[in-house]
Amino acid sequence: MTRIWPGETVGILGGGQLARMLALEARRMGYRIAILDPDPEGPAMQIADVRVPGAFDDPQAARSLAEKSDVITLDTEHVPAALLELIEAIKPVRPSADVLRIVQDRLEQRRFLEAQGVPQVRYAPVSDVEDLHAAAKVAGFPCVLKARRSGYDGKGQVRVGHPDELVGAWRSLGEAPAVMESFVDFEREISVLLARDLEGNLRFHPIAENVHRRHILHLTRVPARVPAQLASQAEELGARIASALGHIGMMAIELFVTGNDGLLVNEVAPRVHNSGHYSFGACVTSQFEQHVRAVCGLPLGDPSLLRPAVMVNLLGDIWRDSGPAWSTVLRHPTARLHLYGKRRVSPGRKMGHVLVLGEDADSASALAESIAAALERGTPPGGSTWT
Ligand SMILES: Nc1ncnc2c1ncn2[C@@H]1O[C@H](COP(=O)(O)OP(=O)(O)OP(=O)(O)O)[C@@H](O)[C@H]1O
Ligand SMILES: [Mg+2]
Repeated sequence: MTRIWPGETVGILGGGQLARMLALEARRMGYRIAILDPDPEGPAMQIADVRVPGAFDDPQAARSLAEKSDVITLDTEHVPAALLELIEAIKPVRPSADVLRIVQDRLEQRRFLEAQGVPQVRYAPVSDVEDLHAAAKVAGFPCVLKARRSGYDGKGQVRVGHPDELVGAWRSLGEAPAVMESFVDFEREISVLLARDLEGNLRFHPIAENVHRRHILHLTRVPARVPAQLASQAEELGARIASALGHIGMMAIELFVTGNDGLLVNEVAPRVHNSGHYSFGACVTSQFEQHVRAVCGLPLGDPSLLRPAVMVNLLGDIWRDSGPAWSTVLRHPTARLHLYGKRRVSPGRKMGHVLVLGEDADSASALAESIAAALERGTPPGGSTWT
């Protein structure tokens, strides 16, 4: 069993905000950080010790990252599994190519979940127009057509309300191989955030309750409003999935809570996750430190919640001619600003988030929503003053 100690180098495939926060926590612990990403100025590159600019499918760049690192992990599951396999021969890669091969393809993921007996939406594969109509029969209307690969933040998926819209939906995905799912009229969305270490031990962060807008995570609230029995069922599903995959590191399992307290798994992410950002400031051990601990072969940390917390995402939409007036956030002593250092701004792009800690989740949520609304309006309450 290879343990990686502070002073050694953690290599990350991907240099976005997840890698940046992993790097911040790893650096605090004394690790060095190496990043491979096509953007030499991306969020994690800005704070890396070793930069390897390159494409995710460039074997030369991946080899170079492996040679400069003591362990390799990732901030995106959209890295070719074959490339991971290539570097597994050089250095430990956690999670492994085998985990990625299943998770990065929605159809493979659904089939794997089905084989594990995990409850999920009705689904059917689509690879041509004939399948499309057959799959809609399985899923029923409304349904959601999702490309098998490369989706995030609702990209690569389209809701279909009526049989007449099927062909248009399929064309809008470029006729890429896809999965048809039934549309779930859920009561709530939650996520299980767990870590699995090299010995198979599991630790759970408090379950997150998530609100999406336009298929993009808007807000996470913790503790989640779910009965204890439902929470332990959700954790049991997470444990089954992570253990069956042989996963190492943090994992997020997104679930729909349906009427009568039913649970359906939406999707699995083999990495730190946006719905776990609250832990960076609200828990004894953040998801980022926990992931570093797991992939470095250290014992897992205590994931307990210190205070009720609400995280709200800051999207590019609130950037106008200049950046938002940060006094809107910073005037509140219990609100903590996280910005990812992204230079390119576009609508829907995740630029940062605000974490609000409170006496209870309701008051934290009210403050977080009022900050988000003020940022959207573009006028800081109290103008440019702090009062
Ligand atoms: N079958 C469904 N029924 C109802 N809502 C859905 C369904 N699939 C997706 N959604 C909604 O869209 C959101 C994003 O979908 P999903 O998680 O599948 O996509 P993604 O683009 O991979 O997102 P992520 O950024 O989490 O990777 C979900 O959190 C949910 O709110
Ligand atoms: Mg999702």
